[in-house]
Amino acid sequence: MITKDLLLYRNLYHLNDYSFDIIENLYFSYNYIVPSNKYKFLKKSIIHTTALQKTYVMGTEEVHALKHIDININQNEYVALMGPSGSGKSTLMNLLGCLDTPTAGEYILNNQKVSDLEDKALAGIRNTEIGFVFQTFNLLPRMTSMENVALPLVYAGMSKLQRMERAQEVLEMVGLGDRMDHKPNELSGGQRQRVAIARAIVNNPSIILADEPTGNLDTKTSVEIMSIFEEIHNNGNTIILVTHEPDIAEHAHRIISLRDGLVETDIKNDKIIKANDPNHRYLDQSN
Ligand SMILES: Nc1ncnc2c1ncn2[C@@H]1O[C@H](COP(=O)(O)OP(=O)(O)OP(=O)(O)O)[C@@H](O)[C@H]1O
Ligand SMILES: [Mg+2]
Repeated sequence: MITKDLLLYRNLYHLNDYSFDIIENLYFSYNYIVPSNKYKFLKKSIIHTTALQKTYVMGTEEVHALKHIDININQNEYVALMGPSGSGKSTLMNLLGCLDTPTAGEYILNNQKVSDLEDKALAGIRNTEIGFVFQTFNLLPRMTSMENVALPLVYAGMSKLQRMERAQEVLEMVGLGDRMDHKPNELSGGQRQRVAIARAIVNNPSIILADEPTGNLDTKTSVEIMSIFEEIHNNGNTIILVTHEPDIAEHAHRIISLRDGLVETDIKNDKIIKANDPNHRYLDQSN
């Protein structure tokens, strides 16, 4: 039932309709308890897209990379995004991460309509709420692990000492406490990706967007990386991870598949694989 309060907050949140997810979100935000068959707190919506579209124009040709994407992702969900090459996965990640703007449609990120935000506000969100991890690591080659990880903190206005302390803390979290002075070319692929993950989480963002983070890694190292994502997820964060590999996607709790710029399937994963499961098949194989 829609209450007067919900109507009141409609404008505040720039909602065009009362999709159930948004209503859930509002109830959660204002600590309502929804009377359903079971009394429970409902999860907060963190990503909500309506008819999201992205068209690239290449000379006279148009590429419809995303045709119509309606998705809702709640806080602390762990989602794998799959689909064939060219299906629009990276395009969607770039939109969700506010690195690019949609051609049409609406994107509500953490209760804010993204198209309403000024560039400065967007940059702020990117820097504090979202952490990116890419397939190719994107580390600065002349900088040490410590310096690479500390870099995003410069914009957060911390002193150098504070930045170094925080960088050390996250590098230790990803198991690289003994590689802080190494430069990227003095690290293995898995270690580089762990530096990239440390850099992504150093600002304590609530959303981690990872585009094929294990694409360049061997299977054993990939599983180690998955255990770090698992830990980040256990800390209450939301994770969206693009992967081509079904074995990697099985670590996520929900699997969304894209095809030709549309959501083809969106399913709950009933057979979640835990990276630290002693019976994990890849850890088995490596012994
Ligand atoms: N900057 C761009 N300009 C023009 N077309 C683009 C651009 N970026 C992507 N495309 C096109 O949009 C479509 C979707 O690309 P996208 O990179 O999102 O695919 P993807 O699912 O991430 O593929 P992959 O698995 O190969 O990484 C493709 O047909 C691609 O050629
Ligand atoms: Mg891609």
